[in-house]
Amino acid sequence: MTRILTGIQASGLPHIGNYFGMMKPAMQMAAEPGIDSFLFIADLHAFTSHPDPLVFRNNLATVVLDWLALGLDPDTTTFYRQSDIRAHTELTWLLLCHTPMGLLERAHAFKDKKSNGMDANAGLFTYPILMAADILLYDIDKVPVGKDQKQHVEMARDIAQKFNHHFGATFIVPEVVIDETVQTIAGIDGRKMSKSYGNTIPIFCDNKTLKKSVMSIQTDSIDLGQPLDPDTCKVFALHQLFANPRITTLAAEYRAGAIGFGHSKKELVDLIWNYFSDARIKRKTFETDPRQVELIVRKGAAKARLVADKTLARVRGKVGLPENHLV
Ligand code: TRP
Repeated sequence: MTRILTGIQASGLPHIGNYFGMMKPAMQMAAEPGIDSFLFIADLHAFTSHPDPLVFRNNLATVVLDWLALGLDPDTTTFYRQSDIRAHTELTWLLLCHTPMGLLERAHAFKDKKSNGMDANAGLFTYPILMAADILLYDIDKVPVGKDQKQHVEMARDIAQKFNHHFGATFIVPEVVIDETVQTIAGIDGRKMSKSYGNTIPIFCDNKTLKKSVMSIQTDSIDLGQPLDPDTCKVFALHQLFANPRITTLAAEYRAGAIGFGHSKKELVDLIWNYFSDARIKRKTFETDPRQVELIVRKGAAKARLVADKTLARVRGKVGLPENHLV
């Protein structure tokens, strides 16, 4: 069994860029044979940016619903909230005391955020250590992440190696996996689809909102009846992404000038709407039964805690503490 782990942020309404770029590949990987998958919501990390408590709580509930609705299977993936497992914060402290300042000072993410005007609180500075604890607690073999998180996982490796060197074999040293094939989805303005650019096509919205965002996808101004090039058209690329069964005919219509961007977009709205119709229904069902949802994440936490507490006991023993907490 290969054990993999992914941490996700609860950052509000998911969009189709999140889905195809990260959510779908993560769920596909979890379903592969020989894979034992852990997926958790990095809610403690979120406090580095001081979220409003109500907004935070809402985002946290939302991200759970979104993943479950979009097909995460809690039977095959251990799905939990980071904050439900106390071992994350305790291991963070023990690791902090074995992490040289210099290692943290070199972190790109911290330097970038600081230069973008984010307040440089100590949580932000030590963010990579909480992330190392997230990983090292679960004896993880592989951590699939986007390029922006590569350095953080490398830091976790460094910390694990140093600790093992000092105290003897304690942690599995995780491998970082960057999936180069994961596609970047273009937003309605052509740049990478991202909440911070305000160019997203949301997944769980009403039909009118979906229509509005699809209709505002930027296209060249070409007169009706003129041929269009499917290979360079962003709308066409989305038809492909959503596996439009009419794709070949549609390409021919583009080339023959038999369809305009307006009609292509209308068809795309229906395509996206239908693609997520099961997920929408599932989400509604979960929404009306918050107790069941809470039960699912608590079950996930119970499974995760078994692994995390065992690792933490091992670490406590190595540094000279009693292995088990006082109860
Ligand atoms: N920092 C990651 C991000 O911003 C989220 C995260 C937290 C994470 N802990 C992790 C990712 C552990 C992988 C492993 O996306």
